[in-house]
Amino acid sequence: MRILFSFLFFFLLFTLIFIPSPSLAIGYAVPVSKDSTTQLYFITVSMKTPLQRTYLHLDLGGRFTWLDCQKNYTSNSYKHLPCNSPVCLAFGHNYACSNCFKPPGPTCANNTCGTFPENFVIRKSYISIAIVDTLQLSTSDGSTLGKPRTINNFVFSCAPSFLRKGLAKKTLGVVALGTDNFSLPLQVSRAFHAPKYFALCLPSSTSSPGVAFLGSSGPYRLLPQETDLSKLLLYTPLLPNPISDSLVYSVLPSPEYFIGLTSLKVNDKPVPINVTLLTINQDGIGGTKLSTNTPYTLLESSIYKALTDAFVKEFRAPNLTVTKAVKTFGFCYSANQIPVTRVGPAVPTIDLVMQSESVFWRIFGANSMVWYSKGEVNAWCLGFLDGGVGMRASVVIGGHQMEDNLLQFDLVSKRLGLSSSLLFGSTTCSNFNFTTTK
Ligand SMILES: *[C@@H]1O[C@H](CO)[C@@H](O)[C@H](O)[C@H]1NC(C)=O
Ligand SMILES: *[C@@H]1O[C@H](CO)[C@@H](O)[C@H](O)[C@H]1NC(C)=O
Ligand SMILES: *[C@@H]1O[C@H](CO)[C@@H](O)[C@H](O)[C@H]1NC(C)=O
Ligand SMILES: *[C@@H]1O[C@H](CO)[C@@H](O)[C@H](O)[C@H]1NC(C)=O
Ligand SMILES: *[C@@H]1O[C@H](CO)[C@@H](O)[C@H](O)[C@H]1NC(C)=O
Ligand SMILES: *[C@@H]1O[C@H](CO)[C@@H](O)[C@H](O)[C@H]1NC(C)=O
Repeated sequence: MRILFSFLFFFLLFTLIFIPSPSLAIGYAVPVSKDSTTQLYFITVSMKTPLQRTYLHLDLGGRFTWLDCQKNYTSNSYKHLPCNSPVCLAFGHNYACSNCFKPPGPTCANNTCGTFPENFVIRKSYISIAIVDTLQLSTSDGSTLGKPRTINNFVFSCAPSFLRKGLAKKTLGVVALGTDNFSLPLQVSRAFHAPKYFALCLPSSTSSPGVAFLGSSGPYRLLPQETDLSKLLLYTPLLPNPISDSLVYSVLPSPEYFIGLTSLKVNDKPVPINVTLLTINQDGIGGTKLSTNTPYTLLESSIYKALTDAFVKEFRAPNLTVTKAVKTFGFCYSANQIPVTRVGPAVPTIDLVMQSESVFWRIFGANSMVWYSKGEVNAWCLGFLDGGVGMRASVVIGGHQMEDNLLQFDLVSKRLGLSSSLLFGSTTCSNFNFTTTK
C-alpha cells in the first residue's frame, strides 16, 4: 500500500513537473498590413542573410511562397535544391528539373528543382527554381512578442519580376498559407514542432497592421482586454476540393480553404438561391472559399441577384435613396441618413449559414458596406460583387468581409474557427501589441 502511494506521489510529481502547461506554448506573430492602393494584404517578415525586412502579399489559399529574385537578391545563405533532394521529391508532381546556361545565381543553377509559383491576383504563373534561405519570425505568447526564431531552410520559389504585377508595390512576392506541405504555416510547424494551426486577423485600417498567429492554437489576445479569442470561436468544417483552381496544378487537390455554406439570410430571412451551386462537384466546381486575392466577396450571378434583391427590399425602411452606383459597386446609399453603430453602418445583417441553423457567420455593416467618399458624395456601398456565371467557386469570400474577425485555421481537425466581429468586444485586428521591449 505504501509503495503504491509513494508510486502515485512520484507519478503526480513527475506529471506536475514534466507535462508542459499549455499557457507556455510558443507561437509566432506576424504583422498583416492593408495596402491602400490595391486593398490587398501583406505580411512583414525578415529573410536572407544579413536579415532584410521583406513584404509579401498574403495569399490565404496559396500553394508555394515565392519571391522576386531578379530584383537585387543579396544573401549569403541561400541554397539550391538538387533534383533528387528529399525536399524536391516531396514536391511530388509539383516539380520540374532544369539546367541553366546563364551566370550562376539564385535564379540559375544546374540539376535544380523547379516549381510554378502563381500570382492569383492577375492569374499568372511562371516556371521558377526553388531555393531555401533564412526566414525569421517573432515568437509570441499570444499577447506580446518574444525573441525571434529562425527557419534556416525555408523553401520558396525564385520568380521573375513580372510575376509581381497587380500586387501591392511594397511587396517582393507572395506568402502562401494554403493546405499544401510547403505553405508558411506547415513549414513553421515542421521547423519548430509547432501545432498545425494558424489564425488570421485582417486589419480594416491601412495605417496599423493586423496580425497572423502561426504554430499556435491560442491564446490570441488583443488590446485593451485580456479575452482569449481562441475561446470564443464557432467552428465549421474545412472541406476538401479534389481539383485546384490552378494554372498548372489542376490535377492536384486544392490548397484553398472551402467551407460548407448552405444558405444565406438577410435580416434573418432566407434568400432563395440554387443550393446546387453551394456544393463542390467532382470537377472541383461550386462551393464557397475564402480568398485574400479579392478585396470584396464575389458571388455567382444568380446568387448576387438574389442577395442584392433581398438586401434592397429589407433596407427600404430608412427611406434611403440609392445613389448613382459607384464604379465597382452596384448598390450605394447616401451616408448621411444611415446611423453608424459599434459594428458599422446600421444596415440589414447578412448571415452565411453553415452546417446547421445555429452555425452562421453574421456580417454586420462594417463588413458588408464599404465607405465611399468623393467630392460631395459620401456613401456606403454594398461590398459584394457580381462574379459572373462561369465562376469555379460560387462564393468567394473576400478580404473586406474577413476584416476585424479572427479566423482560426485548424489543420489538424480540418475546421475553421470564427470569432464574429471583434468590434462587439470594442477591439479590432489592429490592436495586437507589437511593441517590443528594448
Ligand atoms: C540590394 O539589397 C541590399 C540589402 O538590402 C542593399 O544593401 C543594397 O543597397 C541593394 N542594392 C540595390 C541596387 O538596390
Ligand atoms: C550547367 O552545365 C553546363 C554544361 O556542363 C554548363 O555549361 C553551365 O555553365 C552550367 N550552369 C551553371 C549555372 O553552372
Ligand atoms: C505532404 O507530405 C506527406 C508526408 O511527407 C505526404 O505523404 C503527402 O503526400 C504530402 N502532401 C502533398 C499534398 O504533397
Ligand atoms: C442550379 O445550379 C446547377 C449547377 O449550376 C444547375 O445545373 C441547375 O440547372 C440549377 N438549377 C436551377 C433550378 O436553376
Ligand atoms: C422619402 O423618400 C422620398 C423619395 O425619395 C422623399 O420624397 C421623401 O421626402 C423621403 N422622406 C423622408 C422622411 O426622408
Ligand atoms: C505591450 O508590450 C510591451 C512589451 O511586451 C509592454 O511593455 C507594454 O506594457 C504592452 N502594452 C500594453 C498596453 O499592454
